[in-house]
Amino acid sequence: VGAEASADARTAADFLRQHSGAPPRLAIVLGTGLGGLAEHITGSSVVSYADIPHFPHATVAGHAGRMVLGELQGVPVAAMQGRFHLYEGYAPQQVVLPIRTLRLLGAETLIVTNAAGGLNPAFGAGELMVLSDHIGLATMAGLNPLRGPNDDALGPRFPSLTNAYDANLRAQAHAAARALAIPLHEGVYAMVGGPNYETPAELRFLRAIGADAVGMSTVPEVIAARHSGMRVLAISCITNVTLPADANEPPPEPSHAEVVANAERAGIQLTALVERVVAEMA
Ligand code: HPA
Repeated sequence: VGAEASADARTAADFLRQHSGAPPRLAIVLGTGLGGLAEHITGSSVVSYADIPHFPHATVAGHAGRMVLGELQGVPVAAMQGRFHLYEGYAPQQVVLPIRTLRLLGAETLIVTNAAGGLNPAFGAGELMVLSDHIGLATMAGLNPLRGPNDDALGPRFPSLTNAYDANLRAQAHAAARALAIPLHEGVYAMVGGPNYETPAELRFLRAIGADAVGMSTVPEVIAARHSGMRVLAISCITNVTLPADANEPPPEPSHAEVVANAERAGIQLTALVERVVAEMA
């Protein structure tokens, strides 16, 4: 699948080249309920995923399924309203097709956002967390976008993920958060396959292995981005608290409606934060 996957990305990039002005320097993935940032992109052309060769169609509620190309704070960007998840049945290589496509179009930096459940007891619903690292349960076990023949033109066979989350971009995010008086946590994101929410025992396991938040996306995209040499900034919106405050209490019951509602609420802060970081790139 590896060689085919990068051929698909080349076809998709050729198509988008005809639909965008300046090639994007920055790719942005807007997670569940976080699509609002795209409204701030000026001079934009909007391309539905359905029209881009080889792109799967986004289906999940809260995901629009289109690419918005234009300028944000003077920086040429391509923003994805809606992403592909493993739980929708897509192969990991399909999940990362947009990342490879935007890399081939010229993007050097990726900002990726997601909705996540909080595991760290210090995190409240509606708060933001910048990723310092991740635990890719699915990718570690072989559901990995780099599986298959390696395209050496994209990146190396055995990429390092030691510094997956760029230290300078993280520092810029914290500086922007301070300037805007937005609380910003930092921590480790664990990726699960979903689509079910975790059992109480799974949540205790994830906390015990060092995760601060849990979600169903992002890790494949970050792996593909790092493989192809992009700098990465990733921010989770903590949409729900997963572990009970007291071990004797029943765990809070998650719901997709709660996740979307809190992501939309926190999305206002996340939008302001990302815009400020992007302004620094101009
Ligand atoms: N678990 C997994 N993924 C999620 C959650 C959660 O609690 N909240 C938002 N995405």
